[in-house]
Amino acid sequence: MVLISQRIFLETIKKYCLAHEIAIEVRSGGWLVIMTRDTTRRLAIGYDVGLNSAVAHQVANDKSACADVLALAGVAAIPHTLFLGAKLSKHIPGSDSLEAMQRLLDQNPHGLVVKPNEGTSGEFVIRVTTRAQLETAVARILAAHPSLAISPYVEIADEVRVVLLDARALIVYGKTRPSVVGDGVQSLRALAQASATAEQLKTITEDFDAAALDAIPLAGERRLLNWRHNLDAGAEPVLLADGATRDACVALAISAAQATGIRFASIDVVCADGAWQVLEVNSGVKMEALGRHHPALVEAAYSAALDALFT
Ligand SMILES: Nc1ncnc2c1ncn2[C@@H]1O[C@H](COP(=O)(O)OP(=O)(O)O)[C@@H](O)[C@H]1O
Ligand SMILES: [Mg+2]
Repeated sequence: MVLISQRIFLETIKKYCLAHEIAIEVRSGGWLVIMTRDTTRRLAIGYDVGLNSAVAHQVANDKSACADVLALAGVAAIPHTLFLGAKLSKHIPGSDSLEAMQRLLDQNPHGLVVKPNEGTSGEFVIRVTTRAQLETAVARILAAHPSLAISPYVEIADEVRVVLLDARALIVYGKTRPSVVGDGVQSLRALAQASATAEQLKTITEDFDAAALDAIPLAGERRLLNWRHNLDAGAEPVLLADGATRDACVALAISAAQATGIRFASIDVVCADGAWQVLEVNSGVKMEALGRHHPALVEAAYSAALDALFT
């Protein structure tokens, strides 16, 4: 698999290996990296440098399992209830129950977020408030993924990513969602088209109906173009200054890392109703979007991981 977006990750590995007299072989367009120093051999695949155990990696990738592990460890986390698609559900009665999904909808007046249980980058993360929307979202996700997870929708005021290595925070940044400011004349659609990227515009047409796009925001009114915080969908990373918020995010992320037994991870924490909770644990540390703003920081974080790998 060729991943053009992997540039900073690969460049850092190459630079590190050159400086540390480590022989390196890159295959599959950068997807696979083999590093050798004397008798020490290390592999990297995708964004995984091999610091995490197979179990920690699997738990992190399984949104529902991860939420369960965190809840059982007493770490505040957004619940993710697992439902299975046709291929898996025949082994476990009730695991595909639309009625159970409907009960979650009944219990959550602000709606639900339905997403692939093993998804990344915000694809197929769908907010629903009605039974019809729920059924459509479930069908869309299960057409492409073997299972899905359902969470209560929460109004996220801030989402922060903590990049951790062995309970040490390497980088902490907030994610600012794309938005426009109204002028009292132009429609939301016109404002978005004038400022948003093609990628952002794609999600806008999925999230907003025609009436919402044609409405004219008031002069000075700020409107979000995406309720999700994915950097791939146009959110911008903003480094967090030292202070109480940063400390709270780091402490929560460290508890999540300890509960899941993960060493090198990017952990997303969200503030909703004034309380911080874990949204997800990512075992692959992907920092391409951040690298465009802060290349030196990203290089230092990957170098720290490589130091851990070669000691
Ligand atoms: N329960 C939820 N309530 C509100 N927003 C959510 C919820 N779950 C996810 N989101 C939003 O959607 C984005 C993507 O969801 P996430 O669980 O991180 O999936 P992915 O692994 O695809 O990034 C998050 O960054 C957040 O902004
Ligand atoms: Mg995410």
